[in-house]
Amino acid sequence: MYLEFYGLRENPFNVTSDPSFLYLSHTHKEAINHLLYGIQQRKGFVELTGEVGAGKTTICRSLLNKLDEKTKTSLIFNSSLPENQLLEAILNDFGIIPERRSKVIFLRQLNDFLLDQLSVGNNAVLIIDEAQNLRASTLETIRMLSNFETEKEKLLQIVLVGQPQLREKLNSPNLLQLRQRISVRFHVRALEKNEVQRYIEHRLSVAGASGNLAFSPEAIEKIYIHSGGIPRVINIVCDKALLMGFVHETYLIDKEILQKSVEEIEGQFSTVAV
Ligand SMILES: Nc1ncnc2c1ncn2[C@@H]1O[C@H](COP(=O)(O)OP(=O)(O)OP(=O)(O)O)[C@@H](O)[C@H]1O
Ligand SMILES: [Mg+2]
Repeated sequence: MYLEFYGLRENPFNVTSDPSFLYLSHTHKEAINHLLYGIQQRKGFVELTGEVGAGKTTICRSLLNKLDEKTKTSLIFNSSLPENQLLEAILNDFGIIPERRSKVIFLRQLNDFLLDQLSVGNNAVLIIDEAQNLRASTLETIRMLSNFETEKEKLLQIVLVGQPQLREKLNSPNLLQLRQRISVRFHVRALEKNEVQRYIEHRLSVAGASGNLAFSPEAIEKIYIHSGGIPRVINIVCDKALLMGFVHETYLIDKEILQKSVEEIEGQFSTVAV
């Protein structure tokens, strides 16, 4: 609605996990490096956790762009799939056509595929997003996938991505075997205060902002307080603030505009809660 007024090519504060908007904050950069390390060093299991809206899915999508064609990937977003459908989805991602819909066949074909990949010097990665929703039985099957190995190395690197409950889940006694195999762990933090401004400027510039649109330092401070540095919350409040700025025909988003935006958002939430 406000795009034309501000001369923007696209919405700067969409809440989709579009990697083209990636701002490499300290924590996001570290997260990607940990994942790359775990995958390239064939560490087997890698765990990535972070608060709701911290940027985990965005990190996964950005990671895919960083892997070369010698790394075959499967990215599963629907972690609540029943076990067999999950296996089939993994096979599909790797371009394997299942001979039959049976767990034994799926596992055999996957193992053959992974050995083939190793023989030509390739690596394979399975990334499971929203892994906090995986059932215990499915987690057990995933643990079995990590048994695909030669004497020297893991054939499949498995990245489990999820909200903090994932860690709690993995702490349960019946998943001890899996937990012990996780060799790389990283928790995505919220943005620090000084990163919030750079994050906002980065997203504005990717969306084509020319420079006359600005957030005042007091407005940024308010955004930080309201969001606690969580990117999705920053996006929601900034989107609202741009709409509010457009209504008031101003290019400077100041603390009054921010205040109104926050009030509207909180008002909306309390309406929903009622
Ligand atoms: N480093 C970043 N650079 C740019 N945008 C980001 C970054 N991190 C998060 N975002 C944005 O914040 C929003 C939420 O990110 P994302 O969906 O990746 O979070 P999440 O941790 O996967 O959330 P959930 O816990 O709900 O799965 C998205 O719009 C995303 O583009
Ligand atoms: Mg996500």
